[in-house]
Amino acid sequence: CFTPDLLHLHTIENTIVVVADVFRATSCMVTAFAYGVKSITPVATIDECRLLQERGYMAAAERNARKVEGFELDNSPFTYMNEQIRGADIAMTTTNGTLAITRSRGAVKVLVGSFLNLDAIANFLKTEPYDVMVLCAGWKGRVNLEDTLFAGALVDRLKDNYAMAEDSAIMAWRLYGQGKDNLIGYMSNASHIRRLQRLGIQKDITYCLQHDLYDVIPVLRGNALVGMEG
Ligand code: MLT
Repeated sequence: CFTPDLLHLHTIENTIVVVADVFRATSCMVTAFAYGVKSITPVATIDECRLLQERGYMAAAERNARKVEGFELDNSPFTYMNEQIRGADIAMTTTNGTLAITRSRGAVKVLVGSFLNLDAIANFLKTEPYDVMVLCAGWKGRVNLEDTLFAGALVDRLKDNYAMAEDSAIMAWRLYGQGKDNLIGYMSNASHIRRLQRLGIQKDITYCLQHDLYDVIPVLRGNALVGMEG
């Protein structure tokens, strides 16, 4: 599903949804769990985030790729490489990523995917009997290249285990095949790359495109993401 705005066309009751917002929300989440965070509660609004902050959560709020005033955590994966977050409960709201997660409620499982934990996600899904949907967070209802490429990468790892039931899976897979040897070059004109570059955040881009750095899978339990056990 290339954007949450197309989610209404699908039924997700018998489906595992993998939410991807490669730049940068889901890459941040995966990094946070790799560095020992206890839970991340994704919320849709800044007000909800503030409420949880008042109850003692560490809080991260991003809009239009900028940190919102009054919140301690930025939407950069490097913010989460920090001893302070070990064992912490975090509340997070971002422009697209957290919205995609909250919209996925009702699926058999909601997993958080990124290039950083691609292999962990693929290996887990190989043992599951359910259909799988990658929900690309996109940008404000629009399709973006980086999340589509992630979807294609996951299709590539699972192509011997699952049929490509939708043309969107074939399209994502073919794009990944074209771009995989030089993802940064392939995406050089992509909208969010340009947005992040305007803000001087090149190092986040390079970091988020690394494959298979962490063996963690954040999974939604109730309202919060937790690390999947073993
Ligand atoms: C989002 O959720 O829209 C993104 O993570 C935006 C960003 O790069 O900060």
